[in-house]
Amino acid sequence: MRQFTEDNLTEEVVARFKKGAKDARFRELMVGLVKHLHAYAKEVKLTEEEWFEAIKFLTAVGQKCDGKRQEFILLSDVLGLSMMTVAINHKTEPGATEATVLGPFFAHGAKEFGYGGDLREGATMKGEDVWVHGRVTSTDGKPIPGAALDIWQAKADGIYDLQTEGEFELRGRVKADAKGDYAFTSYKPKFYSVPIDGPVGELIRATGNHHMRPAHMHAIVSAPGYQPVITHVFVEGDPYLDGDAVFAVKDSLIGKYRKVDDPAEAKRLGLPNPFLRLDWDFRLAPDAGVKARKVIAPSDAVA
Ligand code: BEZ
Ligand code: FE
Repeated sequence: MRQFTEDNLTEEVVARFKKGAKDARFRELMVGLVKHLHAYAKEVKLTEEEWFEAIKFLTAVGQKCDGKRQEFILLSDVLGLSMMTVAINHKTEPGATEATVLGPFFAHGAKEFGYGGDLREGATMKGEDVWVHGRVTSTDGKPIPGAALDIWQAKADGIYDLQTEGEFELRGRVKADAKGDYAFTSYKPKFYSVPIDGPVGELIRATGNHHMRPAHMHAIVSAPGYQPVITHVFVEGDPYLDGDAVFAVKDSLIGKYRKVDDPAEAKRLGLPNPFLRLDWDFRLAPDAGVKARKVIAPSDAVA
């Protein structure tokens, strides 16, 4: 077939993908993509200049990526596409901790800590000391001994360790004890800007949107026999809870940082008095044969 027009081109492209693609799911994904891309181009009457601008933009997004910087994840996040895939794929089991975006700053290989570990070790910047404590249980309330909590958060200046040269900071793999209890010391997270020194920053500015994320700590909680959850704990009262640049806030994920003024307790925990305390339980749904959410670090995408 030849002589393609606005009216018959989509049909032909779809037909070729349908015929050629061996894997059924891949075929479905490609056919859907072509249909929606063509419909979009027709709807907005896309000009060649505009499409070339978009190609330049996507090229710049790719060029910004390396083993530490993942501009495509950031793009997906600010377009709401990351949160859309979370919403489609993680309709939370009743009682389980809700999932939210992974973001571009997860890294494999963080140091392991036991109960009471100090994630401030080696931190280059101070913050408000916080004792984070809670239990990992199944949705029926049964403790999960030895559950793993991968924790990471930005430094006091709102920058993640992966955004600068140097060692890991404010991140660690915390293991729950035999009762499913976990605890660690860190700093209270602060709100911060998503990286805006690249093409996605230009996009945000051009759309007139803001680029702030409400304060949060990231957690991936996992244990054999349970569905892992990729989640956040946000900070009650944060000014950006209602306008998160990546649409990731859920009411059930907002935690209260309580001030504790108790010199004996501070001494016992090795903290200055007063300090902050966050009590936060994580609840995992049983595995039930569901395919686990794959955790992708920026370094995986360029490997
Ligand atoms: C983050 O929470 O680390 C994050 C998420 C999306 C974009 C940028 C940062
Ligand atoms: Fe973050």
